[in-house]
Amino acid sequence: MRFTGKHAIITGGGSGIGAALCRALDRAGAQVVCTDIDEAAAGAVVSTLSPRARAARLDVTDAAAVQGVVDDVVARTGRLDLIFNNAGIVWGGDTELLTLDQWNAIIDINLRGVVHGVAAAYPQMLRQGHGHIVNTASMAGLTAAGQVTSYVATKHAVVGLSMALRSEAVPRGVGVLVVCPAAVETPILDKGAVGGFVGRDYFLQTQGGRAYDADRLARDTLRAVERNKAILVKPTVAQAQWWFARLAPGLMNRMAMRFVTGQRTRQVDRYPSSAADTG
Ligand SMILES: NC(=O)c1ccc[n+]([C@@H]2O[C@H](COP(=O)([O-])OP(=O)(O)OC[C@H]3O[C@@H](n4cnc5c(N)ncnc54)[C@H](O)[C@@H]3O)[C@@H](O)[C@H]2O)c1
Repeated sequence: MRFTGKHAIITGGGSGIGAALCRALDRAGAQVVCTDIDEAAAGAVVSTLSPRARAARLDVTDAAAVQGVVDDVVARTGRLDLIFNNAGIVWGGDTELLTLDQWNAIIDINLRGVVHGVAAAYPQMLRQGHGHIVNTASMAGLTAAGQVTSYVATKHAVVGLSMALRSEAVPRGVGVLVVCPAAVETPILDKGAVGGFVGRDYFLQTQGGRAYDADRLARDTLRAVERNKAILVKPTVAQAQWWFARLAPGLMNRMAMRFVTGQRTRQVDRYPSSAADTG
C-alpha cells in the first residue's frame, strides 16, 4: 500500500503514539483526520502537519460519534482507507484498589473504543472492497503481569479481536494489523497510577530502562501495514519475551510473580502510606 492520498482516521491522535502516527501518515502523503477526546491536543498536532490534515473531537466510548466521524470522511471522499484504533488509558497498581468505575472506564476506552471503530469502519471497507484496520494493543496483550491487570485484560481482548477479524477480513480485501509495543516514550508512562505505582519504573524495567521512540514505532507500523503483517511487536527484546511466554507460560508466570512482588516492595518503601502492603 502507498499512503499518498489515502484517507485515514486516527483515534487518540492528540498525544504519544497517535500523534506520531498522524505525523508519519502526513509525511507519507495521507489525508489525516486526527481525533482525540482532547480537542485542543488534536488541534495542536494538526497545526504541525500539512494543510491536508484536520482535527476532530472524538470520544471513542461514544459509538454514534465514532460512526459519525467515519460517515463524515466517506461523505466527503467516497471512502475510508485506514482507521487506527489507538486511544487508550492505563491503570497501574494493586488490583484490589481499582474501583468498578475504573474497570468500566478502561474496558469502555481500550476495548469498546476499538469495537466502535471496527463496527463503524469495517462494513464500509467491505463495501468499497479495500481498507486497513490498525488496532493498538500492547505487549500486555501477549504477556500477563499483575498490577496492570485491567490493562492486560483489555489488551488481550484487542489482540484476540484483531487476529480473529483478520482471518475473515483479509480474504475479503481488508487488512488488519495489531500493534503490540512494550514501553514507548509517551505521557501514558506517567498516568493512571493507583496507590504507590510508578508506571515508568514498572514498564521500563523489562527494557533495560529505555522506552522505544514513538515516531520510530509509527514508521514501523506503516511498514507493517504495507506488508499486510498480522502483528507488530517492538522492540526486539519484546519479541524474545513473547516467544518465551509461548514456550514456557508457567515459568513466565512465576517470573511475573517475582517481578510484581519486587515492584510492590519498592512502592511501599517509596510511599509508606500507600495502601499496598508486602504481604
Ligand atoms: N506508551 C506505551 O508505553 C504504550 C505501550 C503499549 C501500548 N500503548 C498503547 O498505545 C495507545 C496510545 O497510548 P500513548 O502511549 O500514546 O498514550 P497517551 O496518553 O500519550 O495518548 C493517549 C491519547 O488517547 C486519548 N484518549 C483517552 N481517552 C480517550 C477517549 N475516551 N476517546 C478518545 N481519545 C481518548 C488521550 O487524550 C491521549 O491523547 C494506547 O492504546 C496504549 O495503551 C502504549
